[in-house]
Amino acid sequence: MFDDTYAPKPAGHTASLRNAQPFLSVRNLTLHYGEKQALRDVSFDLYDQEILAFIGPSGCGKSTALKCLNRMHDETHGVRIDGQIIMHGQDINSPDIDPPVHRRRFGWVAQKPNPFAASIYENVAYGARIHGLMRNRKEMAAHVEHCLRRAHLWEEVKDHLHKKSGHDLSGGQQQRLCIARALSTKPEILLMDEPTGSIDPVATAKIEELLLSLRDDHAVVIITHSMMQAKRIADRVAYFHLGELRELAPTEFLFSAAQDADARAFVAGRFG
Ligand SMILES: Nc1ncnc2c1ncn2[C@@H]1O[C@H](COP(=O)(O)OP(=O)(O)O)[C@@H](O)[C@H]1O
Ligand SMILES: [Mg+2]
Repeated sequence: MFDDTYAPKPAGHTASLRNAQPFLSVRNLTLHYGEKQALRDVSFDLYDQEILAFIGPSGCGKSTALKCLNRMHDETHGVRIDGQIIMHGQDINSPDIDPPVHRRRFGWVAQKPNPFAASIYENVAYGARIHGLMRNRKEMAAHVEHCLRRAHLWEEVKDHLHKKSGHDLSGGQQQRLCIARALSTKPEILLMDEPTGSIDPVATAKIEELLLSLRDDHAVVIITHSMMQAKRIADRVAYFHLGELRELAPTEFLFSAAQDADARAFVAGRFG
């Protein structure tokens, strides 16, 4: 089971997390798709201002676990979830929680860039508009600029915000546009399912740099197949195996001294 109390005190960024209250606490999370169990007794905490990477072989439950956090399974028929996910002192699956309000706290970025077939401006304005976050056009324009700057895309698109469609951009730019779109609702937590899985190394480097800057005021959970990527950007790493969260530890620790034998074999590239 996951227990990171044995981990050495990490230097730098994560050190400050140790004394903080978790942003979100997952306890004994179990999920079934019909008869099939996809998550078994998963527990972990997520802190503000950290990047937590989920790694593990395909089909081990990483995407399933990520989707639990923003209630993306609500619409999937036959899904049963047990256990708790506590955020701001409330269980996110309790009847008191309004799902759209809950989902607004999260930004979601998928593996394949999927901008809307609309202008760059509209792609970013959409989320803020449907949630009524801006009072007028001027505020909205400033917000769109802010989101595009945070996504390190502003300078490349500022001259054709209304003229170009999201689809006119390169793959890497499209993914940064999707990140700007995810920021539009002012989320607290960013959930990213292999966000660089379909783009080239130069575009990937830009996105990694951007994620490090977004960490200053968000929690980020990222699924990655790249051990190098996890090493470069994650503060902590969670190793999933057959629906279990086998080990969660500061990044350096997990890569150099994992306690779990499968985690050691996986990070050494012996399977996966
Ligand atoms: N909608 C679904 N219905 C039934 N089974 C699913 C569904 N989504 C995923 N699964 C199964 O749940 C397991 C975990 O899948 P997933 O979370 O996508 O793994 P990962 O992201 O680690 O590759 C796999 O066995 C997968 O086939
Ligand atoms: Mg997946």
